[in-house]
Amino acid sequence: MKKNLILLLLLVPFLNVNAQRISIKKGWKLMIGDNPEWSAPGFNDSGWQTADLNRPWEQQGHQNYDGFGWYRTHVVIPSSLKEKAFLKDSLLLNLASVDDNDEVFLNGTLIGKYGGHRGNIKEGHYGPRSYKIASNNPALLWDKDNVIAVRIYDTGGDGGIYGEKFEIHMADIMEGVEYNTSADFSYGDKNMLGKTIKLETKNVYKYAGTLSLKVTDPETGAVILSKTTDNANFTKGSPFSWWFTFNTSQKKSYNIIYTFHDKKTGTEISETETTPYILTPAVGLAPRINGASTFGVRPGHEVLFLIPATGLTPLTYKVAGLPAGLKVDKSKGIITGVVNKAGNYPLTFTVTNRKGTATKKFVLAIGDKIGLTPALGWNSWNAWGLSVNDEKVRTAAREMSERLASHGWSYINIDDGWEADSRDANGKIVTNNKFPDMKGLTDYVHSLGLRMGIYSSPGPRTCGGYLGSYQHDDDDAITYGDWGIDYLKYDWCSYGEIAPNHPDLDDMKKPYLVMRKSLDKASRDILFSYCQYGMGDVWKWGAEAGGNSWRTTGDITDTWSSMSGIGFNQDKAAPYAGPGHFNDPDMLVVGKVGWGPTIHNTRLTFDEQYTHISLWSLLASPLLIGCDMGHVDRFTLNLLTNDEVIAISQDALGKEARQYVKKDDYQIWVKQLSNGRKAIGLFNTSDKYQTISLPKSDAALKGFTKYRDAWRQQNLTAVSGKVAPHGVLLVTVSK
Ligand code: GAL
Repeated sequence: MKKNLILLLLLVPFLNVNAQRISIKKGWKLMIGDNPEWSAPGFNDSGWQTADLNRPWEQQGHQNYDGFGWYRTHVVIPSSLKEKAFLKDSLLLNLASVDDNDEVFLNGTLIGKYGGHRGNIKEGHYGPRSYKIASNNPALLWDKDNVIAVRIYDTGGDGGIYGEKFEIHMADIMEGVEYNTSADFSYGDKNMLGKTIKLETKNVYKYAGTLSLKVTDPETGAVILSKTTDNANFTKGSPFSWWFTFNTSQKKSYNIIYTFHDKKTGTEISETETTPYILTPAVGLAPRINGASTFGVRPGHEVLFLIPATGLTPLTYKVAGLPAGLKVDKSKGIITGVVNKAGNYPLTFTVTNRKGTATKKFVLAIGDKIGLTPALGWNSWNAWGLSVNDEKVRTAAREMSERLASHGWSYINIDDGWEADSRDANGKIVTNNKFPDMKGLTDYVHSLGLRMGIYSSPGPRTCGGYLGSYQHDDDDAITYGDWGIDYLKYDWCSYGEIAPNHPDLDDMKKPYLVMRKSLDKASRDILFSYCQYGMGDVWKWGAEAGGNSWRTTGDITDTWSSMSGIGFNQDKAAPYAGPGHFNDPDMLVVGKVGWGPTIHNTRLTFDEQYTHISLWSLLASPLLIGCDMGHVDRFTLNLLTNDEVIAISQDALGKEARQYVKKDDYQIWVKQLSNGRKAIGLFNTSDKYQTISLPKSDAALKGFTKYRDAWRQQNLTAVSGKVAPHGVLLVTVSK
């Protein structure tokens, strides 16, 4: 008894009772391994290490550890939570993010689990969890000490439970009420913005109250618009829609807060979002040739290169200096054919339309190196997860061809989810029924001048639980070649079960070297992208092991903490990037993302999205769009079609930016460009507007006299500007 009292007292500092929510972020213990007894409330975990819920277990002494681990904590759940709630039926346990799969026990009783994509705890992906516990569940001890035990299985990369919000609260009347803000903003004349938002619920309760919105200028705090509607009534199947417009006087992002107040219960639910602003100038009518200025192909392998050009259509393409074996389609601008002799072939592209002519010097590098500039493309994962299918890939290809290819975008990559469950009688990999004709799909992608990518794992199974390439490396490489695949993402996943428990560098390299050899036997160039989340400092040996790019991190998600945490942590790997081999801090999270059949607008603010694209361009990362290509809104298109920004990514020098200034509230990154130029990103990492400058006298600017704002495509008089919260000023400088 006395012991319990002491225990309760000890627990008090860990309780943070705030407006009906109890934070359970502190007080956790961690143990690597697996033992069913660890769920028992009476188990003595005093010998376990203290867990930090801000970071994965890799950063708590368990580097490169994949597999099982347990977390435990104690919490007193006051019955006042229930008493004060309007609905008293159930309690919610929210875990910010679980990496990858989990089973959650309350006082020894399993109250919820996330078993991965296909129901097996060893397959699946991380994400937030919210578990409902009935108030009268005997496992729930009101006003007493409760033990929460979480069993984790980490499939690869980062593992554990970590993130921002870990809390307990009652599932109240506003639980299950959602703001649907997924409609795109519409852009009217004279800086008018408009949008429809909806209030939706699956509850049968009839909500009736007021909905108000307030738009504020984050720089000055000024209220731009304040509006309330009195008849915000909605219930299951009958949402409430509200259309509003307002005038934004300047090109910047504004904050919006929506608040619904339910009259009967007096409860409120709020939601915030920001407003978009377009920086990329409209494309001109005169022809302009965009994208990289070089492309590498191996001798004797097929060349497929679309000359990216904008301007009033029709455009006519000509290429001077084409070596024997190549031809250009004059109306499509697609160069095809084969060159057997190695060499750097200088070409001149000419593109003509009714408004004029543009020319550009280009080097076709026939030799051993491919992937000379970071790949620009689309990958299905961040949009569709395992729900990707033939139709979605065709849509992506068609949209890329119509809207993005003219700016240099060229890869259409299918991630996990295309593979069948078993091989055919000859051991050949086959597709599942979502991909009835892979060769036909690839032919379609190629017909647009685009290239096709695919995904596999060196293990028996992919991370999504589909068939991997284990012991079939040669078979698969040959099949990819036959299908016409141009890019392979190779994901460690279940290879963890094949490799020794604590793999050394040779163990880590092995599956990639094996596939490298197999790819070399394929009939075409296949860009090789390593995905093993940065294990063994892959950037130090990825190039030598034959990779064209390698992931330096675990999976990204569409939050500021994920994107900025990854992006601003790349300096260590930067020196190792170069033409043909780039660091890959994971794919883009702009536009409509979802990792599954249900898509939502990225949770990054509009300024954070400018930061994301700027930073990834500076980092010379592959730029792989991860959004629903069938619904690319105007803002996202503006992000992906700024030729001066893309030119930073595609610079022929292939250097990655270095962190030049790191302060608590801002950072400056500098990338060397060809012809003695530089690109400089001034990033505001704080929540407030601030002016960030790099003085002319600074060593990095010595001798540089011309400054240009890349997003706005305007000259500047100084490398300095007011930068929005989490926003960026991206500048190129020349002599
Ligand atoms: C993860 C990988 C993701 C995605 C996924 C597919 O391991 O990091 O980018 O490819 O597997 O299951």
